[in-house]
Amino acid sequence: MALSLNDIRLLFERYGELAYSGEPVTQLEHALQSGALAEAEGAADELIAAAFLHDLGHLLNPQGETPTARGIDDLHQYFALPFLRPVLPDAVLEPIRLHVDAKRCMCAIDETYFGQLSADSVRSLELQGGIFSKEEAKAFLRKPYAEDALRLRKWDDRAKEQNRATPGIDHYLDVVERAMRKHGKT
Ligand SMILES: [Fe+2]
Ligand SMILES: [Fe+2]
Repeated sequence: MALSLNDIRLLFERYGELAYSGEPVTQLEHALQSGALAEAEGAADELIAAAFLHDLGHLLNPQGETPTARGIDDLHQYFALPFLRPVLPDAVLEPIRLHVDAKRCMCAIDETYFGQLSADSVRSLELQGGIFSKEEAKAFLRKPYAEDALRLRKWDDRAKEQNRATPGIDHYLDVVERAMRKHGKT
């Protein structure tokens, strides 16, 4: 079962207006802002696509308002992967898969990072297994695409701004399509 470009569009059309847990943006706005921040830093298409799609798992498996407040970790970083794997390369999938562990790693290696997290991110951090030990952080950093996952994480944390102007969904679907084409996956 693979998601087509049109399926991705429909998911955002149907569920994109859901609030992004505890933040002043919708899921669609969060995705668009993540993509825009990646693009502004000159990231490759694959990583811009990853930034745009990183929380697609929330749309495939909606858990209602602020599930972390009810002690639920929705494992959203894994949810979209089986549906995207037939159509997109690891350069897109791995940063998505690792974006939660990237937060656990950043907390371990950057003393200022934890203090910048939003209340919901702190709550979910505990449910997701908490801050990595130094050893766990080192092991994480050795993984392929760890650097991309850390970059994505920083955009993710900033992509929660009310009424921020970004390109629309078509722009990012085009980026996803280029990533699919380039890897012969359409
Ligand atoms: Fe996420
Ligand atoms: Fe996110």
